[in-house]
Amino acid sequence: MFNVILFGPPGSGKGTQSEKLIDRYGLVHLSTGNLLREQISNQTRLGLEAKKFMDSGQLVPDSVVIGMIRSAIKENPDAEGFLFDGFPRTVAQSQALDELLAENHSEINAVLALEVSEDELISRLLNRGKTSGRSDDTNEQVIRARITEYENKTAAVAEYYDQFGKVVKIKGEGDVEAIFDALCNEIEAKKIV
Ligand code: AP5
Repeated sequence: MFNVILFGPPGSGKGTQSEKLIDRYGLVHLSTGNLLREQISNQTRLGLEAKKFMDSGQLVPDSVVIGMIRSAIKENPDAEGFLFDGFPRTVAQSQALDELLAENHSEINAVLALEVSEDELISRLLNRGKTSGRSDDTNEQVIRARITEYENKTAAVAEYYDQFGKVVKIKGEGDVEAIFDALCNEIEAKKIV
């Protein structure tokens, strides 16, 4: 198995690059944001509860997202690997993920961290908010709250994986194809090891 975390702040291009990476490497894409939005559109109890946090730019409680990821991993017993997008977002989620993968005699092989300036993140998300229908993109205050959550709770995930030498930083600004090439180069390098 080859498991990758695509890491970065809101709007750094995780979703955009994930689509391209799963096509190239046949990984199963697990995006907690997408899974939560699916729950919201199906109006499940979990979705209604999560929506309150998402609409205000706060992280959904760890127990909820860890449970979703546990089920998603179980639903894909034949996966050749997973691409985690938007998960883990706290150190507790990272530790839970490591334990879940260890149960399958597997581990995270690479954490690819997209780096994008705050001004660029805000401009991308406000721009997407004009058409995406995502309530958390339409309001600059909520976008800033998401970035603050990232700084306060999620940045520590990179430090957590850095102690195991798994983090590679990638410039996330500029041409989408050039960023994709840089990500692929890192994946190929890790696969050879
Ligand atoms: P989530 O859905 O994960 O959103 P996010 O992390 O805020 O990320 P985005 O989807 O906004 O951005 P992205 O990095 O994927 O960039 P994208 O490719 O879309 O989370 C939403 C909420 O759910 C959270 O706030 C939280 O409440 C909850 N949640 C989710 N996971 C959770 C977890 N694990 N724990 C707790 N709570 C959780 O690109 C953004 C825009 O930029 C697009 O318009 C795109 O076209 C454009 N773009 C991409 N690349 C480029 C480029 N190179 N140049 C110019 N524009 C670009």
